[in-house]
Amino acid sequence: MPNHSPKPLLVLIGFMGAGKSTLGRLLAAQLACPLVDLDEEIARIHGAIPALFAARGESGFRAIEHYHLDLILPALARPSVLALGGGAFLQEANRDLLAHHGATIVFLDAPFEVLYARIRGTAHQRPLAADRDRLCELYAQRRPTYLLAHHTFDASADDPSTLLISLVQLANRLGICTTARATL
Ligand code: S3P
Repeated sequence: MPNHSPKPLLVLIGFMGAGKSTLGRLLAAQLACPLVDLDEEIARIHGAIPALFAARGESGFRAIEHYHLDLILPALARPSVLALGGGAFLQEANRDLLAHHGATIVFLDAPFEVLYARIRGTAHQRPLAADRDRLCELYAQRRPTYLLAHHTFDASADDPSTLLISLVQLANRLGICTTARATL
């Protein structure tokens, strides 16, 4: 049975470099609610993600990612903000879990070149970011799935303040009250 909890769970998705963790942190601070970053949670328990990729391969990482999402979702305080790694929403089983928990999915969208400018040179942190052409293909493959999100926001500006205000307004519409104004 789906969980029809009235308290929202905002889940930030998008490609590497979209700002999911940064915006997640800023948004949770504005909403005075917890932020959970799935990759940070995985790294806390299993060690750094590049080492996990090296030891278990991408499929091993995806299994761990799914396992922790499944574990975290029922335990989250509501409301909360959850930031996912760039590949997590691509797994159908993860999308099903998120739907089951009544999550509101927010896609942080930006053109490939904007994202690439942010993530180039971070291959030591992001195992999939080593090859530009491969990354560009991955972006094109993934974007239609990201667009399944309930809400899509333009995340191409380097200054997150305007986007943060839009996200706070969305949270307010979903019933998450804020006492502070959405300023940085
Ligand atoms: C991945 C994105 C990374 C991390 C892992 C795989 C992906 O997270 O989960 O390296 O498949 O897009 P960020 O999107 O936070 O960089």
